[in-house]
Amino acid sequence: MITRIEIDGFKSFENFALDVPPFLVLIGTNASGKSNLLDALSFLSAAVTRGMESAVALTRGDARGLFRQTGDGGVVDRMRFSVRFHQSARYEVVFAWGLQDDGLEGIVVESERVEGSDHGGRWADIEMDFTMFGPREPKTRFAFARMIWRELRNITILHLEAGALRLPSQVGGGSLLEQSGRNLPNFLRRLAIESGVKFPRGAGLQEISMRLVGLVREVTGFDVVVDEARRDVRIEFSSQYHARIGAELASDGTLRMLAVLAALHDTGLVAIEEPENGVFPDRLRQLLGIAQELDGDRQVIFTSHSPVVLDVVPPRNIAYFDMTTIIENGVPSRVTRVRRLRDEGGPAAVENERWARVTDSELDRFRAGIEEPVG
Ligand SMILES: Nc1ncnc2c1ncn2[C@@H]1O[C@H](COP(=O)(O)OP(=O)(O)O)[C@@H](O)[C@H]1O
Ligand SMILES: [Mg+2]
Repeated sequence: MITRIEIDGFKSFENFALDVPPFLVLIGTNASGKSNLLDALSFLSAAVTRGMESAVALTRGDARGLFRQTGDGGVVDRMRFSVRFHQSARYEVVFAWGLQDDGLEGIVVESERVEGSDHGGRWADIEMDFTMFGPREPKTRFAFARMIWRELRNITILHLEAGALRLPSQVGGGSLLEQSGRNLPNFLRRLAIESGVKFPRGAGLQEISMRLVGLVREVTGFDVVVDEARRDVRIEFSSQYHARIGAELASDGTLRMLAVLAALHDTGLVAIEEPENGVFPDRLRQLLGIAQELDGDRQVIFTSHSPVVLDVVPPRNIAYFDMTTIIENGVPSRVTRVRRLRDEGGPAAVENERWARVTDSELDRFRAGIEEPVG
């Protein structure tokens, strides 16, 4: 589980630090950096465990555009990510703009560092004799380094699109859920196959199905159907009124809910953009409840503009994003800052915290859907 993320030089982040509980909702005004944080997670995960090319392809913007633009029109030449994990392991990597192995300019790794301890022993700050980069777990005797690689690999980012959710999967294709929600049928199949092993309490598709039926009244269940003749895998819903509804005919909201519930059932970190899209407020309320009740290895981050969040999520599980101005070489730049909410009846300012807590009037404006005045 990830417990803290620090970012410098990626998109709108400089001197940015966010403590991450098992469940977190990012709220805040438009263009405050919420999606940039999901981009950062997606980029880091893919760069380390899937290769730089797919990392850039999966992230909004081209490679150079990932580096932070400064107020004077320049671009920084380094990006630093530091990620802390439970058991206090930490991974830090610095990327730079430079010459790649193929002789072309691109994003290159400048340094990597892993800290942690095995078996409760002394802290090891290892001189790297391996790299975390690669499609396989790094070959090292440090178990915490292999754990870090698996955690980075197990990050899923979802910007669900109804069109992609309707598509069938290929028989024998991969089982990864794509950012758009494409490949949901094979992803569900994988959850079903693993459920016996991973969810000893009999969870898996039955539990997803039960929750889906509780959330959306138009269906009574679903199946994942393999069509050998067409060589594809499809989702079919059942309902009281029709024998079967294929994914191509199901409602956007139903498909989105299914994808979100399925993603919540996997292990690792899942970050989902605006789960409220196409969903009634009451269903969002229920969904936020489900996400908070998850136990085990699942870590969930949502972004949201919905006031429902303030009603059902405790302040400590909400992070409020906005932009602030920093002065670099005498020139102002806008960067993302993140602030915490006041605990119920708690103080507005807390010692040793960089920023004061979010004010009631800011929360009132968020609730009312009114943009913050530029300041
Ligand atoms: N490379 C970059 N350097 C500086 N700012 C950036 C960079 N890339 C994106 N941004 C800024 O990030 C903001 C968009 O943030 P985003 O995360 O999409 O907002 P939201 O909170 O609405 O999801 C824009 O204002 C954009 O100017
Ligand atoms: Mg956004």
